[in-house]
Amino acid sequence: MTDRTLVLVKPDGVARGLVGEVVSRLEAKGLRLVAAELRTLTREVAEEHYGEHREKPFFGSLVEFITGGPLLALVVEGPRAVEAFRALAGATDPVKAAPGTIRGDFALEVQSNIVHGSDSAESAAREIGLFFPGLV
Ligand code: TYD
Ligand code: MG
Repeated sequence: MTDRTLVLVKPDGVARGLVGEVVSRLEAKGLRLVAAELRTLTREVAEEHYGEHREKPFFGSLVEFITGGPLLALVVEGPRAVEAFRALAGATDPVKAAPGTIRGDFALEVQSNIVHGSDSAESAAREIGLFFPGLV
Protein backbone atom coordinates (compact mmCIF):
# COMPACT_ATOMS: atom_id res chain seq x y z
CA MET A 1 0.00 0.00 0.00
CA THR A 2 1.10 3.58 -0.59
CA ASP A 3 2.49 5.20 2.55
CA ARG A 4 0.04 7.14 4.69
CA THR A 5 0.53 9.75 7.39
CA LEU A 6 -1.68 11.63 9.85
CA VAL A 7 -1.64 15.40 9.42
CA LEU A 8 -3.31 17.81 11.81
CA VAL A 9 -3.97 21.47 11.13
CA LYS A 10 -3.88 22.37 14.82
CA PRO A 11 -6.37 24.76 16.47
CA ASP A 12 -4.06 27.75 15.89
CA GLY A 13 -3.90 26.95 12.18
CA VAL A 14 -7.67 26.59 11.90
CA ALA A 15 -8.26 29.81 13.90
CA ARG A 16 -5.84 31.71 11.67
CA GLY A 17 -7.49 30.52 8.47
CA LEU A 18 -4.52 28.43 7.32
CA VAL A 19 -6.43 25.25 6.42
CA GLY A 20 -6.48 26.09 2.73
CA GLU A 21 -2.80 27.00 2.75
CA VAL A 22 -1.78 23.69 4.34
CA VAL A 23 -4.03 21.55 2.13
CA SER A 24 -2.88 23.46 -0.93
CA ARG A 25 0.78 22.87 -0.11
CA LEU A 26 0.42 19.15 0.49
CA GLU A 27 -1.70 18.68 -2.63
CA ALA A 28 0.76 20.72 -4.69
CA LYS A 29 3.52 18.40 -3.45
CA GLY A 30 1.56 15.44 -4.81
CA LEU A 31 0.18 13.98 -1.60
CA ARG A 32 -3.40 12.78 -1.88
CA LEU A 33 -6.19 13.28 0.65
CA VAL A 34 -7.66 10.05 1.98
CA ALA A 35 -9.74 11.35 4.92
CA ALA A 36 -10.55 14.71 6.48
CA GLU A 37 -12.53 15.77 9.52
CA LEU A 38 -12.86 18.97 11.51
CA ARG A 39 -13.21 18.12 15.18
CA THR A 40 -12.43 19.24 18.71
CA LEU A 41 -10.41 16.63 20.56
CA THR A 42 -11.39 15.26 23.93
CA ARG A 43 -8.72 15.28 26.62
CA GLU A 44 -8.59 11.46 26.38
CA VAL A 45 -7.81 11.43 22.65
CA ALA A 46 -5.30 14.29 23.01
CA GLU A 47 -3.45 12.50 25.82
CA GLU A 48 -3.38 9.30 23.78
CA HIS A 49 -2.19 11.09 20.64
CA TYR A 50 0.67 12.79 22.51
CA GLY A 51 1.31 9.82 24.84
CA GLU A 52 5.05 9.79 24.06
CA HIS A 53 5.29 13.23 25.72
CA ARG A 54 3.37 12.35 28.90
CA GLU A 55 6.37 12.98 31.18
CA LYS A 56 7.51 16.20 29.48
CA PRO A 57 7.08 19.56 31.25
CA PHE A 58 5.04 20.94 28.34
CA PHE A 59 2.55 18.03 28.28
CA GLY A 60 -0.26 19.69 30.26
CA SER A 61 -0.05 22.87 28.27
CA LEU A 62 0.12 20.94 24.99
CA VAL A 63 -3.07 19.02 25.83
CA GLU A 64 -4.86 22.26 26.76
CA PHE A 65 -3.76 23.82 23.49
CA ILE A 66 -4.68 20.91 21.21
CA THR A 67 -8.14 20.54 22.81
CA GLY A 68 -8.74 24.31 22.80
CA GLY A 69 -10.65 24.52 19.53
CA PRO A 70 -11.44 22.63 16.36
CA LEU A 71 -8.59 21.08 14.40
CA LEU A 72 -8.56 19.52 10.95
CA ALA A 73 -7.45 15.88 10.96
CA LEU A 74 -6.26 14.53 7.62
CA VAL A 75 -4.93 11.25 6.35
CA VAL A 76 -2.76 11.76 3.30
CA GLU A 77 -0.93 9.26 1.14
CA GLY A 78 1.85 9.14 -1.37
CA PRO A 79 5.41 7.89 -1.78
CA ARG A 80 7.26 8.34 1.55
CA ALA A 81 4.29 10.35 2.82
CA VAL A 82 5.58 10.54 6.42
CA GLU A 83 8.90 12.04 5.43
CA ALA A 84 7.39 14.16 2.66
CA PHE A 85 4.94 15.90 4.98
CA ARG A 86 7.54 16.39 7.76
CA ALA A 87 9.69 18.17 5.17
CA LEU A 88 6.78 20.44 4.21
CA ALA A 89 6.06 21.17 7.90
CA GLY A 90 9.62 22.11 8.87
CA ALA A 91 11.36 21.92 12.24
CA THR A 92 9.33 21.70 15.47
CA ASP A 93 10.61 25.11 16.61
CA PRO A 94 9.21 27.50 13.99
CA VAL A 95 12.01 30.01 14.52
CA LYS A 96 14.46 27.32 13.42
CA ALA A 97 12.18 25.99 10.66
CA ALA A 98 13.41 26.99 7.22
CA PRO A 99 11.51 29.70 5.38
CA GLY A 100 9.44 27.96 2.73
CA THR A 101 8.18 25.38 5.20
CA ILE A 102 4.74 25.70 6.81
CA ARG A 103 6.14 26.35 10.29
CA GLY A 104 8.95 28.48 8.91
CA ASP A 105 6.51 30.70 7.03
CA PHE A 106 3.63 31.00 9.50
CA ALA A 107 4.69 30.50 13.13
CA LEU A 108 6.97 31.83 15.87
CA GLU A 109 6.16 29.75 18.95
CA VAL A 110 6.92 26.07 19.46
CA GLN A 111 3.53 25.10 20.90
CA SER A 112 1.44 26.88 18.28
CA ASN A 113 3.33 25.56 15.27
CA ILE A 114 0.31 25.10 12.96
CA VAL A 115 0.64 21.46 11.95
CA HIS A 116 1.33 17.95 13.16
CA GLY A 117 2.70 15.15 11.02
CA SER A 118 3.40 11.58 12.14
CA ASP A 119 7.11 10.95 12.68
CA SER A 120 7.39 7.32 11.47
CA ALA A 121 5.39 4.61 9.74
CA GLU A 122 4.66 3.08 13.17
CA SER A 123 3.42 6.41 14.59
CA ALA A 124 1.33 6.97 11.46
CA ALA A 125 -0.40 3.60 11.86
CA ARG A 126 -1.10 4.28 15.54
CA GLU A 127 -2.32 7.85 14.98
CA ILE A 128 -4.48 6.99 11.95
CA GLY A 129 -6.06 4.22 14.02
CA LEU A 130 -6.77 6.69 16.82
CA PHE A 131 -8.34 9.37 14.60
CA PHE A 132 -9.92 7.25 11.89
CA PRO A 133 -10.52 3.74 13.25
CA GLY A 134 -12.62 2.90 10.19
CA LEU A 135 -9.63 3.31 7.87
CA VAL A 136 -7.42 0.55 9.27
P1 TYD B 1 7.39 16.85 19.09
O1 TYD B 1 6.78 15.51 18.84
O2 TYD B 1 8.74 16.90 19.70
O3 TYD B 1 7.45 17.73 17.73
P2 TYD B 1 6.78 17.50 16.29
O4 TYD B 1 5.39 18.11 16.34
O5 TYD B 1 7.68 18.25 15.35
O6 TYD B 1 6.74 16.03 16.03
O7 TYD B 1 6.41 17.71 20.03
C1 TYD B 1 5.02 17.67 19.83
C2 TYD B 1 4.48 19.06 19.97
O8 TYD B 1 4.67 19.50 21.30
C3 TYD B 1 5.19 20.11 19.10
O9 TYD B 1 4.66 20.16 17.78
C4 TYD B 1 4.94 21.36 19.86
C5 TYD B 1 4.87 20.92 21.32
N1 TYD B 1 6.13 21.22 22.03
C6 TYD B 1 6.13 22.22 23.00
O10 TYD B 1 5.11 22.86 23.25
N2 TYD B 1 7.30 22.48 23.66
C7 TYD B 1 8.45 21.81 23.40
O11 TYD B 1 9.49 22.11 24.03
C8 TYD B 1 8.43 20.78 22.41
C9 TYD B 1 9.69 19.99 22.09
C10 TYD B 1 7.26 20.51 21.75
MG1 MG C 1 6.18 14.45 17.20
